[in-house]
Amino acid sequence: MEITSAEFVISNTDVKKCPAGTFPEYAFIGRSNVGKSSLINMLTGRKSLAMTSATPGKTLLINHFLINKSWYIVDLPGYGYAKRGQKMQAQLKRIIEEYILERAQMTNLFLLIDARHAPQAIDMEFLEWLGEHGVPFSIVFTKADKLNKGQLAANLRLYLERLREQWEELPPYFVTSSENKNGRKELLDYIELINKELTT
Ligand code: GTP
Ligand code: MG
Repeated sequence: MEITSAEFVISNTDVKKCPAGTFPEYAFIGRSNVGKSSLINMLTGRKSLAMTSATPGKTLLINHFLINKSWYIVDLPGYGYAKRGQKMQAQLKRIIEEYILERAQMTNLFLLIDARHAPQAIDMEFLEWLGEHGVPFSIVFTKADKLNKGQLAANLRLYLERLREQWEELPPYFVTSSENKNGRKELLDYIELINKELTT
């Protein structure tokens, strides 16, 4: 799929104030600093559409970006950034959960996982929560450029093994790098496929 237009629409803490209408939405979630905003910029080919930072905790709102005037990318705050303090973390958790559970337009959630790390408890718990609530999701491994081929393959194997313990059927997954654009085509094709299914 070609991205012909990408524009920022609105930032929110309240799911009720998200854009009206029925355009499908693809939301990006994952631990703080995992690379959500960078991935959105990579996918859209717009360097600073979503705000990124080397310091965790950059995205604190639900951000809607209108793509090709027909669907949305949604940048969500990261979870699990301990330095934020409990009150802030609880508030972000509420924003994220409300959006995921209440937003009817939310078509697929991309859960981002840093390809460099072994499975982390916080992500496993989040996955479990998605399963309990029947949320449609896929997994996106990020920062693949930071590993060599062998390390990447080993980490993926470990992760998929771990997922199989929890899930009868593996969710779709993608391996990406916002640095060298790996996985861009696969992800956009996947979104295009779902968009097509929705209109037929
Ligand atoms: P929060 O909004 O704080 O939750 O973070 P985020 O998940 O949106 O992460 P962000 O995109 O801001 O990226 C965090 C840091 O990781 C930045 O310094 C990025 O440059 C870096 N980064 C993100 N993706 C990649 C990648 O694919 N490869 C490399 N090498 N660095 C990346
Ligand atoms: Mg961000």
